[in-house]
Amino acid sequence: MDFSLRIVERLPKYLQLACHLKELGHKYISSSILSKHFFIDQNNIKKDLSFLNLNGKPNKGYEINEFISAVKMVLGTTTVNKAIVVGSGNLGRAVSNYSNFTDYGLKIVAMFDDSPEKIGGSVENFKILPLDNLSEVITKLGVKLAILTVPAKSAAKVAGKLYDLGIRYFWNFAPVHLKLPDDAIIKNENLAASYMFLSYQINLNTYRNNGGKIEMVNGDIEKRIYEAFNKYAKSRDNLIPILQDVQDIRGYISKEDIRKISDYLNIADSKVYGVATFYNQFKLTQPGHYQISVCRGTACHVKGSLNIINSLKDHLKVEIGQTTRDKIFSLQQVACLGACSIAPVIMINDKFYGHLDVSKTLAIVDKLKADYLSEKEAGKTPAVSMAGQ
Ligand code: FES
Repeated sequence: MDFSLRIVERLPKYLQLACHLKELGHKYISSSILSKHFFIDQNNIKKDLSFLNLNGKPNKGYEINEFISAVKMVLGTTTVNKAIVVGSGNLGRAVSNYSNFTDYGLKIVAMFDDSPEKIGGSVENFKILPLDNLSEVITKLGVKLAILTVPAKSAAKVAGKLYDLGIRYFWNFAPVHLKLPDDAIIKNENLAASYMFLSYQINLNTYRNNGGKIEMVNGDIEKRIYEAFNKYAKSRDNLIPILQDVQDIRGYISKEDIRKISDYLNIADSKVYGVATFYNQFKLTQPGHYQISVCRGTACHVKGSLNIINSLKDHLKVEIGQTTRDKIFSLQQVACLGACSIAPVIMINDKFYGHLDVSKTLAIVDKLKADYLSEKEAGKTPAVSMAGQ
C-alpha cells in the first residue's frame, strides 16, 4: 500500500509514543491522545490511521499492541533490511555499534573503507573491507541500504559507485548534497546543521545572561524571528517549536507573531492562538521584569498557595497571566515546581522561594520592587537576578 510521505514521516512519531505508553502500562492509544501530544488535528490523525485498518474501541481507542504491530508493518520494521556502512571513522564506528537498530529491522552486515591503513582492521564484529569487495557483498547478502559515513570529498564518488552496484537507498551522514538518479532515495543527516540549531540556542542563552538585551546578540528581533521560521518546514507539526523559538527571542508571543506564524504555516490565526493559549508555557503578553510563578501543585495547595496567589493578585492589581502596568511584575500559576519539600513555593524569574506565607511573599515582592526602582533611579539597568533572598 502506498502512503503519502507526510503520513510516513508522522508514523514513526506515533510509534514511539505508543511504545512509550506501552512501557508505562497503557493498554490503548487513541487518536485524541495522539492529537493532543503532537498538536495535529484529530481528523488528520484519524485519516492517517485509517490506512492501518485497525478497529478501535469507543472511548478507548486502539489496542496498543495491535497499533504498534500495524505501524511497524507499514514502516517495514518487521522485516529485516540489510545495510552496509561505508566509512570506518568515528561516526561509522558509532553507527555500526548502535545495537537498537535491530529493534527496527535494520541489520548492518559489513563495513567498508578505502583507506589502506584501515582495511583489514575491525570494528566490533566487522572486519573492515576494501571497496573492491562491495559488489560481492551487496549481491551475496542482498544489501539494500548504504550508510555513508565517509568524508564529504569522497561521498559523491562512493554513492555513485554504490548506485551502479544496485543500491537505491542511502542514509547519508556526509555533509554534502548527493546527486543521484531519481530512483535513488536519500535521507540526509546533517550534523553541522543540527549543531547550528544548538549554536543558535547558546546565543539565546547569552542573550538571557545579558539581562534580556536581545540587541546585543544577533541584532534585530524581527529578523531573528524570521530566521527562526526558516529553520522549520512549513508543516503544522512545527507549530509548537516555532512558538517556543518566538517566545525565546521576543520574551513573549505578540499578536503580530501569531499572524506571522499563521501565514508561514498556512493555518488559521485562531488555531495558532488556540495552541498558544492552551499551554501555560506560552506568554501572550509582554512579561514583567520579574516573572512570578506561583506553584499550584498539590503540596503547595495544601500549604496555602491559593492565599498566596490571591494576595499577589490584590497587591499587584493583576490577574493571572497579566503584567503590572509598570511592567515590573507578571504573575502566573504553574504546576508542581519540583520543590515540594519547601512548599508553598514561588519562583521569581529563575529563583525559588519556599516555606512562604502571604506576608513573606508580599515582603519579597515589595523589596524587589524597591530595589528595581532605586536602580532605575540611579540610571542603572535593574539586574534580573534576585535581591533580598
Ligand atoms: S507542589 Fe509546589 S513544588 Fe511541588
